[in-house]
Amino acid sequence: MNILVLHGPNLNLLGTRETDVYGTVTLDKINGELESLARELSVSVTVHQSNGEGELVEWIQKAGGRYDALVINPGAYTHTSVALRDAVAGVGIPTIEVHLSNIYRREEFRQHSYIAGVAVGQISGFGADSYALGLRAAVAHLRAQQATAKK
Ligand code: DQA
Repeated sequence: MNILVLHGPNLNLLGTRETDVYGTVTLDKINGELESLARELSVSVTVHQSNGEGELVEWIQKAGGRYDALVINPGAYTHTSVALRDAVAGVGIPTIEVHLSNIYRREEFRQHSYIAGVAVGQISGFGADSYALGLRAAVAHLRAQQATAKK
C-alpha cells in the first residue's frame, strides 16, 4: 500500500509560524513521525511539500496509478483552489484532507473547503496528530475497500 502525503503552502514554516495556532512542531518532525507510523502499519509513504498550487496539481495528477491514497493538507489553497479540487476529483484517488487547526473555529474564510466535497473525509483540529490520524484513516479506508472487494 503506497500513500502520498502532500503539504501545501507555508507548512514548511511549521515550528516558527503562528505557533499559537499551529504549535512548535516542525514539518521534519511530522514527516519523521509519519514514516515511523507507516512502518508500524506496514505501508509506504512518500512526502512532498510545495508552496506552489501548480506543483501540487502535478503531484496529484502523477499520483494516479502510483499511489493508493492521498493525505493532503492543502493549507490556504483549501479555501481558494478549484484546481486542486479538480485534480483530486480527476485522478479519483481516495483522499483524506487534514488540517492542524480546527478550520471551523477560525475566520469565516477558512470555514469552506473546496477539497472536502471530493475527499473521503477530513481531519481538522488535532495539531500535528491530524497527520497521523489522516494516515490511519487512509489505511483503514483502503483495508476496508480491499475486504469488500474480496467478498
Ligand atoms: C491549515 C489551515 C489553513 O486555513 C491555513 O491556511 C494553513 C494551515 C491547517 O493545517 O490548519 O496554512 O491548513
